[in-house]
Amino acid sequence: MSFVDRLNLRLPLIQAPMAGVSTPALAASVSEAGGLGSIGVGAGDSAAARAMIAEVRERTGRAFNVNLFVHRPATPDPVREAAWLAWLAPVFAAYDAVPPQRLREIYTSFADDPDMLAMLLEVAPPVVSFHFGLPDAEVIGALRARGIVTMATATSLDEARLIAAAGVDAVVAQGIEAGGHRGVFDPAAPDDALGTIALTRLLVRATSLPVVAAGGIMDGAGIAAALDLGAVAAQLGTAFIACPESAASDEYRAALAGEGGYHTVLTSLISGRPARALANRFTALGEQVAGWRPPDYPIAYDAGKALHAAAVAKGEHGYGAHWAGQGAPLARVLPAIELVRLLSEELAACRR
Ligand SMILES: Cc1cc2nc3c(=O)[nH]c(=O)nc-3n(C[C@H](O)[C@H](O)[C@H](O)COP(=O)(O)O)c2cc1C
Repeated sequence: MSFVDRLNLRLPLIQAPMAGVSTPALAASVSEAGGLGSIGVGAGDSAAARAMIAEVRERTGRAFNVNLFVHRPATPDPVREAAWLAWLAPVFAAYDAVPPQRLREIYTSFADDPDMLAMLLEVAPPVVSFHFGLPDAEVIGALRARGIVTMATATSLDEARLIAAAGVDAVVAQGIEAGGHRGVFDPAAPDDALGTIALTRLLVRATSLPVVAAGGIMDGAGIAAALDLGAVAAQLGTAFIACPESAASDEYRAALAGEGGYHTVLTSLISGRPARALANRFTALGEQVAGWRPPDYPIAYDAGKALHAAAVAKGEHGYGAHWAGQGAPLARVLPAIELVRLLSEELAACRR
């Protein structure tokens, strides 16, 4: 049975998990409309994830995806963190604020989170996906034995091979165009920065896994192109940020519709890992900080969030983590159900 049939999708479309932006209401709307809705639970604990899963289930009986961060836990480095905070101090000072005294590792990796695993095995969401790496083979085996379909992000053939060897059911080929964090397993390793077209073809030809294409896909023509490349489905994130069901702030929505959408930037400054964001004051700091390495993800993110909060307190929203892909100017402002319907019509028109 094909991947799409196994999940009973009417459309080869996955709404990307977007921690902090996707909501149970967004995911359920997409699933109800025939795609696969996703929630990102990597930024919270197992209780928060359990509540989000319950809310999706209240809204839809169809399949949905629960996404986890499986980053290598950060290595605290007090000297580097202090130097980073000192570098940021003048930026904080511009908003009459001081940096936090100490930075925390704000997200627990799923690799280190037995409570999250126990909860997932108990409530058994239809799909679980991994970003930034993979949990142990036993964990993947336990999830699959519970009937859960698994997916993982790859940005390279090497990562896809690890995903295939781990027994994961499908691979998300995330091109450099993609909004949000690159799913690279090791942020310190060289990155070939493959685009969605080349990466999708590479994974279709060199692995036997179903491949989901992600990165820069904004409309039915993009989904059709992904299918033509041999992908079983397309995963769209940025296209869904402007939906009223997302948790994006008004300022984020305005930025998405503004000039910054034409100039997205890949930066590690905000969180400590490379991620693509709308150009804003935060991404512009990258020009001044050349040669600096921020603390490990997600320790650097603690500083990034503090800076955003300090600036917002003075009415400045230019330090938000406004993640978005290169297709940002192509985003449409529509309720999720209408957007999925439109994507379906556009895809059908391309297929005629
Ligand atoms: C706002 C935002 C948040 C994201 N958060 C996550 C996440 O929590 N987990 C994840 O696996 N991918 C996340 N991504 C990446 C998506 O899974 C996907 O790779 C990307 O959205 C595809 O590119 P596109 O944004 O151009 O459609 C995020 C993307 C965006 C835009």
